[in-house]
Amino acid sequence: MTKQLDLLDIQGNVIRAYGRFGYPVARYVFLNIRHSAAGREFVGEITKKVTTSVDWGDNPGQIKQPNWTVNMAFTYQGLKELEVPTASLIGFSAEFVAGMKQRKDILGDDGVSSPEHWDPIWQGNREERQKDVHIFISLNARLPELMEESFAWLKGVVEKYQGGVVILGGNRGDDGALLDYQDVKIVMENGKPTAKEHFGYTDGISDPVFEGMPHGAQSPNGRGKQMADGSWEALATGEFLLGHIDEAKEYPPAPGPILLSRNGTYMVYRKLHENVATFDAYLNEHGKKYPGGKELLAAKFVGRWRDNGAPLSRAPDEPSKIKFDAQFAAADHAGRDTLLSDYTYDDDMSGAKCPFSAHVRRINPRASLEMIRDEGDTPGSLKRSVCAFDTPGALSNRRRLLRRGLPYGDVKDRTRDDGNHGIIIMMINADINRQFEFVQQQWINYGNDFKAGNDKDIILGNHSADEKFPSKAVLQVDPNSDHAPYFLSRIPRLVETRGGDYFFVPSMTALRMIARGVIDPT
Ligand code: HEM
Repeated sequence: MTKQLDLLDIQGNVIRAYGRFGYPVARYVFLNIRHSAAGREFVGEITKKVTTSVDWGDNPGQIKQPNWTVNMAFTYQGLKELEVPTASLIGFSAEFVAGMKQRKDILGDDGVSSPEHWDPIWQGNREERQKDVHIFISLNARLPELMEESFAWLKGVVEKYQGGVVILGGNRGDDGALLDYQDVKIVMENGKPTAKEHFGYTDGISDPVFEGMPHGAQSPNGRGKQMADGSWEALATGEFLLGHIDEAKEYPPAPGPILLSRNGTYMVYRKLHENVATFDAYLNEHGKKYPGGKELLAAKFVGRWRDNGAPLSRAPDEPSKIKFDAQFAAADHAGRDTLLSDYTYDDDMSGAKCPFSAHVRRINPRASLEMIRDEGDTPGSLKRSVCAFDTPGALSNRRRLLRRGLPYGDVKDRTRDDGNHGIIIMMINADINRQFEFVQQQWINYGNDFKAGNDKDIILGNHSADEKFPSKAVLQVDPNSDHAPYFLSRIPRLVETRGGDYFFVPSMTALRMIARGVIDPT
């Protein structure tokens, strides 16, 4: 039987990446609670406006698509300020309780990415509680003027509580200005909207499909989990929502009572600055030497071609890319989705098509980690071993992340790294440590699972400027060919962390319970 989720109980940003649903601009606002009772009342007032995951439509009885959406989440400190009972607080995960800054060593937030360089809004240290981020509110709008309308509404609600809840400033904007919010928006090219981020890659293609997602969700092929017979199925709901069975057939650890956690989840918010000048210079320098040319090299960094997101697994070189482009141009929406997402690394165990350090292979290795060297085979080639799991991608299936957010800022001068441009990425997962932190620590900043030693994710790794330990990555070639692998040497840090924290995204039921102060953990 198909799993049904209570979409009216789940916040809308869990199911929908709003950017793909006609909301090209968003504003993220962070608040501090000064008085607990006012904080709870404020939460109650906002909750009335919170956008759920329910399907929109124009038929009688259906909820119409809103002009702007509202969603809300809390840090651990925020839940404490709202006086969630201790018996419930102790049920939250250790990393959520600690917060992102405390986890900097796990996350590789070092050097220029270390917390002392983050935006002022993230400099609260739990000693001066008036500086801590407690509440996160995200406003997504169909037009810039509608975003201003939504922000005016939010400010009006804040004002009603006369200092009981305040908007925190300190989000860095253009020319170092400190703002009361973090704005994000899609990147425009020649006056037209794109799906690009600031390095020029098409983004926002892949997002996991899980059981119970409404009918608007895409096919699980390439987005769900790969089965032993080669078919694909939706992932277990409990990978992304608390109170539901996960891929280990267990309930993910969650605070009690069940009404507080069920249909809620955790969200990781990260502000990531993109060093566009360094990226362009490094790509140009190696693009001149790389046998496949600059654009193939750019594709090797991520695992997808920049222009249309064609995966290297389907289009590993110039001739196959030309064929891909022709099929892509002729395909309808569903056909394009298949071309972009429905692939495996089964015939690319050497990394000759998509290198082991390419961003998408690091983040989602699909079924390629359950393979071992077959001693009887041609030296260097790899083959699927007898798999210990029912699903060949079992290891990756426990590390999947729903991605939300949009780019921020404009690149005004591509010859400079400084400036206000990057992406705000929000990752939704049921277990921050098992999912986000594991991926960030073991797969982005370390390469052992990929038999790639210390090689990091090429675009995202915390590459070292230390002359003694320069970062490198190998671009593999077919082990049966005469070609030599290409070595990317002295990789500079392309992305820098500028702030963030861990949040709990409650269900609608839990929001109401928090607002009324009626959480009974007994
Ligand atoms: C500035 C930083 C980043 C840039 C420029 C970037 C860019 C991209 C691009 C171009 C893609 C391919 C398009 C797509 O599949 O949607 C992608 C995929 C993805 N990225 Fe990132 N990304 C960044 C940071 C991160 C971070 C911090 C994470 C999580 C730790 C992450 C997680 C993912 C995931 C889960 C996918 C989909 C992989 C798949 O299932 O194939 N990204 N990213």
